[in-house]
This record gives sequence, structure tokens and C-alpha cells, in this order.
Amino acid sequence: MYLPETVKVNNQNHLTMAGVDLVQLARTYGTPLYVYDEDLIRHNCRSYRDLLAKSYPDSRIAYAGKAFLTMAMCRLLQQEGLSLDVVSGGELYLAYKAGFPMEKIYFHGNNKSASELKMALELGVGRIVVDNRAELAQLAREAEKQGRSAAILLRVRPGVSAQTHHYIQTGQEDSKFGLGLSDGQLMAAVKEALKSPRITLCGLHCHIGSQILEARPFFLAAQVMVAALQEIHNKTGVALPELNLGGGLGIRYTREDRPYSRSDFLQMLARAVREKAEELNYPLPQLTLEPGRSIVGEAGLTLYTVGHVKELPGLRTYVPVDGGMTDNLRTALYEARYEAALANRVVGEPLQKVTIAGKACESSDIMIRDIELPAPQSGDILAVFSTGAYHHSMFSHYNRHLRPAVVFLSRGQAALVAERETYEELARLERIPAHLQLEQDAREEASGQ
Ligand SMILES: Cc1ncc(COP(=O)(O)O)c(C=O)c1O
Repeated sequence: MYLPETVKVNNQNHLTMAGVDLVQLARTYGTPLYVYDEDLIRHNCRSYRDLLAKSYPDSRIAYAGKAFLTMAMCRLLQQEGLSLDVVSGGELYLAYKAGFPMEKIYFHGNNKSASELKMALELGVGRIVVDNRAELAQLAREAEKQGRSAAILLRVRPGVSAQTHHYIQTGQEDSKFGLGLSDGQLMAAVKEALKSPRITLCGLHCHIGSQILEARPFFLAAQVMVAALQEIHNKTGVALPELNLGGGLGIRYTREDRPYSRSDFLQMLARAVREKAEELNYPLPQLTLEPGRSIVGEAGLTLYTVGHVKELPGLRTYVPVDGGMTDNLRTALYEARYEAALANRVVGEPLQKVTIAGKACESSDIMIRDIELPAPQSGDILAVFSTGAYHHSMFSHYNRHLRPAVVFLSRGQAALVAERETYEELARLERIPAHLQLEQDAREEASGQ
């Protein structure tokens, strides 16, 4: 049996997290349930911030909201002094509603809409990370219209391939994100931005991918980006003061994963930037990183209730749970692997090799293939670990499943931060146009139903 450091077992043989009995928690809030160790998220925020500042004093951490974002999370980030990376009008709106300081926002996206750019300017976000030249021109026009100026970074494709699932590689030459270096697109955008009276070009950005477990691609990207800053300096005479190297540090999902230590990672990145800047005699830029997964991933787990176990003699035993690819899309997207335990009978005999199946109508909705657990039975509570990043935020309404609730745990207490969706919520935005009305609709309306 494998248990991550985030959980413990109490004297009732129940799993606990942050001092809270997870069986009790499932009874109170129902399942599926996204559960977070709030103290661990805070610890991760602080350690990122403080460790980077130790190696590189002029630095910032901007949490990548796409990993997991709720209004409570925005408040936590604000309390911990982090900046925030958002990638859509929706994420920006949530941060705004939570009262997050707009000047600490980095607004991303490879295809921001006109209304998203307008909104970002109106709300006064700190940095807009511009993806391409057409967007730059559109932003300049919108800024002119609003009589405001836009502080931007330009997103660069550094031409570095990271060893990760190809769906989450983003820094290679053939990528939909950012401006190319070798094709002259970056330099052209820089010149356009410097000429534009409503645009303040502050620096460059790159993000090479996610769930990266090795140092080399980060190191290479850092060096390529400092060299790009230097080239801009040579060609335009302008030394851009900011460099944002994105996120991407991998985490532990299974016992086999060996993530790169956060402190080594930050020291290595700081060194890569400093050494290259010294070599090229470039003034040290302010350094920003945008971790998402490595702040919330291991701090989260999901609780499910086991349904009717199905034995296929000689083949396998399927253990169905009351969630699946709708609350954990990563299995279907990347064949992601997980560890799990029974929260109500953590240690038990006999062990049985089973396959955890989701409840969506897709054969690919398998959460964990071949895991050994104390023979699961209907009604058991299953905890799947390391589900804090790209789970709640990737939720899908396929089969009209309801989005699970989210709770934060801290020092033995649970706090609800997102309610479970209801069937009424599902129908709320639906309309039945006039030509599909039935006689009974008119009768029901007349009787006030
Ligand atoms: C621009 C940008 N920054 C940061 C991140 C966060 O990456 P991670 O969650 O791997 O740290 C992403 C993720 O895709 C991203 O696209």
C-alpha cells in the first residue's frame, strides 16, 4: 500500500488529512468531493516565494489559476502575497469578484477575444501577456479607444522540447503558443510594441510545458530567454526589465514519480538566468515564475463512493465509483496514473487487485488500472491522491454529471469553498423556444408551476 505524505491513518483505520477524518467528511459533504489541505497550499506558496527570493531577490511568484481557481483560492493567494496568472475572462472575473488586486494579475491566452482584452484593460490588470502580432495590434487599438496604456510581456516559443506528455508540451517550435525566435516574429513584435504609444513593453515570457520532471529543458529555456533579451537590447537599444519563465515543475502522482526538488529547481533557474545575464553583460531582469500544479496538485485528493463491484472471472474486477472522467479528465486525456486508498478501511485483508472505473459512458473512463486494495465493497469511500491540479478546473458536464463540492481543510476543520452543483443549476441556463412549447407548458404556466 502506498500513502502520500499528505494523509495519515487514525485509530479507526480511517484516512485523515490536516487532522480531519475523511470518512466523516464524505458523510457530511457527500461524494465525489474535492478536498484540499489548505495549510499545505499555504506552505507551498510561501516556500516558492521565499526560496526563489533567497536565490534571486528581485522575483515574484504568480500562481497559475488554470490549475485550480476558486474565489477562496484567490483570497488565500492574496494573503500569501502571490501574484496570479489567469487565462480567460472567466478566471479574471472570478479574481475580480474575489477582490484580488488587479495589478498583480498576468493575463494569458493564445486567442484572447476582443471582449477579454477590453475587460483586462478596463479592470487594469498588471500585465497582459501578448501571444502574437495581431493581438498586439488589437490591444493597441483597444488601449487607444479607452485612453489607457497596456503593460505587456511578449510570449515567446523558445524552441525547447520538454520531456512530458506531448499534449502538455508548449515551448517547442511547432506550438500554437507565442512568437517564434528564429522566424523573426518576436523581433517584429518588439519593434511594433516599442513604437506603439499605448503599449509599455516590460519583458518576455515563456512556458515550456507541464509535469516536467527534469532540469535540462528549464535551464535551456532560461538561457535562450536571456539571450533573446540581449538580442532585443542589441537591435533596439532597449533593455527590457522583466523575464517570466512560466510554470511546469512536475509533482508526484505515483510511487514511481521522482519530482525534481523545488529548492534545487529554483536555485538552478536563478543560476541559469544570472549566469547567462553575466555572460552577456545584461542587467539582471526581474524574474517571475508561474507554478500551478506544484502548488496545489499534491495538496488535493478526491473522495468517491464505491458502487456495485463487478467481477469478470479470469479477467478483472471493476470497482465503479460515483465520479470519473468528468471530475478527473486527466485519465482520459493523458492516460494519467494515480494512487488511491480506501478511506474507511485503509489497512485490511485480503488485498485484491482491482480496476477503478468511472461512471461516464466511455470505455476510456478508467481511473486506475490494477491497483491493490483491501477487497473493495459497495459503500466504501475511495480516496484518489494528488488530484489538486487540473481536476476541478477541467471538470466537464458530460452525461450531465454535477460538479462536485470543494472543501479546504486546516487544523482539524473543514470549510466549504464551492458547493456541489444541483440539478436546478443544470437547467438554469436552458431555454425552450416558442416553436418547441407544448400545450402542457401553457397549462403549467397558467397554474403557476
Ligand atoms: C502560461 C502558463 N503558465 C503557467 C502554467 C502552469 O504550469 P504548471 O501547472 O505545470 O506549473 C501554465 C500551464 O499550462 C501555462 O500555460
